[in-house]
Amino acid sequence: MKHLFLTASILATCLASAAHAGVIENRKAKFKENVAILRAIQTQIGEGDFEAIAAGGRNIADWATKMPDFFPEGSESAGTIDTIWLDFDDFRSKATANKQAALQLEKAAGIKDAGRIMAAVQKLGRTCKSCHQSFKSN
Ligand code: HEC
Repeated sequence: MKHLFLTASILATCLASAAHAGVIENRKAKFKENVAILRAIQTQIGEGDFEAIAAGGRNIADWATKMPDFFPEGSESAGTIDTIWLDFDDFRSKATANKQAALQLEKAAGIKDAGRIMAAVQKLGRTCKSCHQSFKSN
């Protein structure tokens, strides 16, 4: 009977991590998309495609809003540090800072100002780094 209980609880643990596998994959895909958005900006400035830059900023801001929901309790991965769940308010506020910087990028693209766009990209990059330093393991 005890053995059966143990088997059941091991099974439950496995199911829990399997349940989070999707959310972990999805958040990684979104983070990779962020990198692609930022990398494309230099070329988009050259092409005068400010619409695309604004859309990229909006996309990053949108993701930053949802980001905390993609880090439910128990969704540890090789890339996470457990302090995320010990200080989730700080995690949340770093996501908010990321969102605000992304909205500044959208704004700079809206007025088609290359200098401001590059400054906004730098600032935005710092908000990524700030969260990674506290909460990302590699
Ligand atoms: C509020 C915190 C936070 C912010 C803001 C944030 N990240 Fe991350 N990022 C993480 C965490 C935590 C992970 C690890 C996720 C995992 O491996 O499960 C991660 C992972 C990544 C990865 C690795 C994805 C993979 O395939 O393993 C990349 C690339 C990345 N982030 C880029 C960015 C960029 C670019 C920005 C800014 C535009 C950004 N991140 C903003 C917390 C953040």
